[in-house]
Order: sequence, then structure tokens, then C-alpha cells
Amino acid sequence: MSLLAAPKFLSMPAVGLDISADSIRFIELTPNRHGHLEVMRYASRNFPIGIISEGHIRDKKKLQDTIASIVHEYKLTFANISLPEEQAYLANIQIPNVPLSAVHDALELRLEEYVPISGVDAVFDFVVVGSDVKHKETLDVVVSVLPRMVVEEYLDIFSGTGLIPKAFEFESQAMARAIVPRGDNGTFLVVDIGKMVTDIFVTANGVVQFSASLDIGGHYITQAIERSLKIPYEEAEALKVLHGMVGGGDAVEVRTAITPVMLDLRTRIMRHFSYWQTHHGEKVGGNIECVYITGGGVNLRGITEYLGLELNVKVVVANSWVNVCSFENYVPPILAHESHGYTAAIGLALRNSFPE
Ligand SMILES: Nc1ncnc2c1ncn2[C@@H]1O[C@H](COP(=O)(O)OP(=O)(O)OP(=O)(O)O)[C@@H](O)[C@H]1O
Ligand SMILES: [Mg+2]
Repeated sequence: MSLLAAPKFLSMPAVGLDISADSIRFIELTPNRHGHLEVMRYASRNFPIGIISEGHIRDKKKLQDTIASIVHEYKLTFANISLPEEQAYLANIQIPNVPLSAVHDALELRLEEYVPISGVDAVFDFVVVGSDVKHKETLDVVVSVLPRMVVEEYLDIFSGTGLIPKAFEFESQAMARAIVPRGDNGTFLVVDIGKMVTDIFVTANGVVQFSASLDIGGHYITQAIERSLKIPYEEAEALKVLHGMVGGGDAVEVRTAITPVMLDLRTRIMRHFSYWQTHHGEKVGGNIECVYITGGGVNLRGITEYLGLELNVKVVVANSWVNVCSFENYVPPILAHESHGYTAAIGLALRNSFPE
């Protein structure tokens, strides 16, 4: 390759499209003339809650219309698309050492021992983890599995929208690519606090090893305020944003309303954290170095301190731009508090910028 020509992966614009519980978001990253990535375009569209639930598409037509409207307005052609975490299974499987071309078949036979879907009803992808695998008797493989039905649902919605999916990827893997600094092979627990769900996963050596979806999110925090203070949802949302978990006076009753939901979240994070440390820490990737939090929910005032109270590692608000730019020469046009909701879309767009 000529030294002057930018490597191909750097010269292509890339679009990441993230489908959430009540919105779709896209971001396009394009290298500038120095080869540094910049945000070309980005946008989001909301749709009513319920169109997607538990990772299933319940109203195909409405979702298609939403996608088509954003695709037409921005003239999008290709995109990397996120798949819902709620229906996903991740399994760490050990198989006899076979050539890479035979790994798929070896896994298919054993899949049912690890996930509650039969080999024929499953679509799966895998990553062989560990180094120097040639000389080992067994291979450690992380397998990501989705029911075939879910994959077909997601493939189907793009027909007629004008958008061609370039790749599908789990939200967790996309987020890991966005927030773990490139080249950092550490082990991290990532918590994505969204509107309807909180996804929690462990990434080690850049590979997501475990993931779970919790039915906790910003919507339920707002609902807790709505019910406790007997006020309309919009007012409750505004009070949540204003006070979060800090302050005296009026803020106290907001904090009191929120606390049970937050305690539930913290307890469940703790449970996953402890489980990983006792069962996997020694084997895969080692102990968790820190907890990264991302998603719109991290904007809740006081959340970092609250979640960190019983964990003996640091809780850090993830920088969703860490692998895009350094802020010294370029500041992305998306405001900091909005960026946390774009983490998956950024990671999906970065798929083409990272040589895999
Ligand atoms: N300043 C703030 N304080 C508290 N919560 C906030 C703040 N800003 C945004 N949120 C909450 O973040 C949530 C949205 O987060 P995000 O955009 O990550 O969700 P989503 O990706 O659309 O949903 P999901 O991941 O569940 O599909 C909303 O519930 C919103 O109330
Ligand atoms: Mg989300």
C-alpha cells in the first residue's frame, strides 16, 4: 500500500444505527483530510413505547415508517445496525482445538447444552479468545446466540425502507468498541442505563464475555416520582432531571421516590459484579478494573456516587468519544449529556474504522 494513501478502513464514511425501545438514532463518522474521524451527521427519531418490547418488534409498520423517514431525510444507504440484547445469549464454551474453519460446526453440536435454543433455531457468531491458541488442546470460544426468529424480524424491517444493513451487531459489542480505549485489553463491567432497560456486560480483551438485560431504566425512575408525588409524567421527568439524587428541600421527596429503583439497580449490578469476580476473574480476562456507566440514565445527578457506594472498584462515566477524537482539535457537535445515549450508534459507526 502506498504510504500516502489512507488505509481503506479510514477513508470510508460509516453509519451506525441504533434501535432503542422508543427511538432510533444514527451517526455518521467520516475521516477528515488528516484521517481523523469527525461527525458528519446524526439524528434521532422517537416512536411510541410498545412498538418494540422485550427485544421483539411488535409493530413492524410503525418501525419501518420511522426508519424510512430518517433514511429519506438523510439519504442513508448503508448502516451497521444494533441487535437487542434482551433476546441474546452469550456463552463461554470450551471445545477441542480444531482449525478455525471447523469451529462453527463444533459449536453447533454443543450449543443446546449452553443456551435454551436448538441449533437449528439459533443464529450464532463466535470469537476465539486467548493467545497462542495453536499450541493448546482446547479452545475458549465466546459464542453470541440469537433466536433465528428475532434475526429474521430485524432483517425484515429494512425491506422497503431504502436502507441496506451492512452488518448486525449486539449493542453490547458496539458499546464496548466505543468506550473501551482502543488497545486496552483490560476487563470492565459496563452498565448502559437506558429508558426501558439497563444492559450490563463484561468486556475483556475487547470481547464481550457475558451480558444481561435488567428491566430497570429511566422510565421506571420517572414513574416512581410520578406515583409517589402524584404528578403528571412530564413533571416527574422534569423533577428527575432537576434534582436527581442530590440536594435538600424539594429534592428530598424526589430522592425518596427514586431510591428504591436505584437500590434495586445497585443491588443487581453488585450481584453481577460479585459473580464475575468469584467465577470468572481467575480464568477469563482477570478481575474487573472499573465499572463504566453509559446511556442517558448516567445524567441522573449523583448516580456515580450512589452506584459506587458498595462496589470496591471505581464507577466511571464512560467517554463515548474516546475512540473517535481527543477533543483537543475537534469537539463533536452532540452535547455531552446527549452523547451517552449515542454510545451504541458510535460503536456501530466505528466498526469500519477499527481494523478488526
Ligand atoms: N439529566 C437527566 N437526568 C436523569 N435522567 C436522564 C437525564 N437525561 C436523560 N435521562 C434519561 O435517560 C433515559 C434515556 O436514555 P437512553 O437514551 O440511553 O435510552 P434508550 O437507549 O432510548 O432506551 P433503551 O436503551 O431502554 O432502549 C430516559 O429515561 C431519560 O429520562
Ligand atoms: Mg439504549
